[in-house]
Amino acid sequence: MIRSLLTKKSSIQKKYFVLKYLIMFSVLFFPHSNAFCQEIENFDLPSIIRGGKLYDNWLAFVPKEKQHLISKVRKSHPSYPKNSKQNGITTWRCKECHGWDYKGVSGAYKTGSHYTGIIGIDKYTGRKTDEVMQILRDSTHKISGDMISQENAKSLAAFVIAGQVEMDDYFKPGTSKIDGNANRGKPFFQTLCSSCHGLDGRLINFSVKINEYEFLGSIGKKNVWELIHKIRNGQPDEKMISLRALTLQQQKDIVAYIQTLPDKP
Ligand code: HEC
Ligand code: HEC
Repeated sequence: MIRSLLTKKSSIQKKYFVLKYLIMFSVLFFPHSNAFCQEIENFDLPSIIRGGKLYDNWLAFVPKEKQHLISKVRKSHPSYPKNSKQNGITTWRCKECHGWDYKGVSGAYKTGSHYTGIIGIDKYTGRKTDEVMQILRDSTHKISGDMISQENAKSLAAFVIAGQVEMDDYFKPGTSKIDGNANRGKPFFQTLCSSCHGLDGRLINFSVKINEYEFLGSIGKKNVWELIHKIRNGQPDEKMISLRALTLQQQKDIVAYIQTLPDKP
């Protein structure tokens, strides 16, 4: 009896011994393993979403009292190529140089009126906040603290590091067809979008030109990458929701449904 108790104890001790070494081993090994499996910093969702909206149009976030300090944005960004087609304020938006699909010249902006030849930001997924913040203030970007505050720069970094998505995953492999089901997307659209955009997506006309029209259906057909970015992050300066909480498939289904909506008045 005593003997068996003793051996039992020693086997527990043995297990404890092994456990102790396992813990010590993992504590010793963990800091090194980070270098291999590039751990992404932790960011909270609201910060990533805010960053997504800043990427879309940070100018919408400049407080009124600071707006007079950034009058130089009325001229085109000094790093925006002279022979490209856009000009003025819009050339300061991240998306104008790096694209709605984050791939720059390797993505949708490889041709057309938004072509600049500039690289994407997709390689910066998983990088460090400081690195991205330095880029914003560098001699290529020339973005001062009056333009994007330190707090907003952190959100923007959160988006660049942890908020991008591989847009190719929204399409059927090797095609430009959305990998979604419009019938499944319909109830999502009718509950999440239609109160503002109308049941057929024509309640809001996005065109800023008189007698021209741009509805959700138009964006779905002409610029699906913009639509995906807005679904995930919302619209700067508006109460529009972010749908990052939905699965990739649900997001794809919504896009598929929006592509069936009318694009003419
Ligand atoms: C006028 C064009 C322009 C705008 C606007 C712009 N960038 Fe850039 N960005 C560049 C260029 C050009 C590079 C290439 C690196 C260089 O030459 O410094 C670059 C590089 C980067 C990189 C590094 C990519 C890599 O793989 O090396 C990141 C990250 C980045 N930009 C983020 C942003 C963010 C965030 C914004 C919005 C605040 C922004 N950029 C706005 C032109 C632009
Ligand atoms: C609370 C109201 C609201 C809801 C809900 C909403 N939106 Fe919006 N959305 C807006 C407003 C306001 C705008 C800006 C319109 C403008 O700039 O003229 C906008 C803009 C957009 C744009 C950008 C159009 C452009 O070219 O600037 C897209 C795309 C879009 N919404 C898609 C959606 C989708 C998809 C849903 C549902 C998942 C949705 N929205 C839900 C209010 C809303």
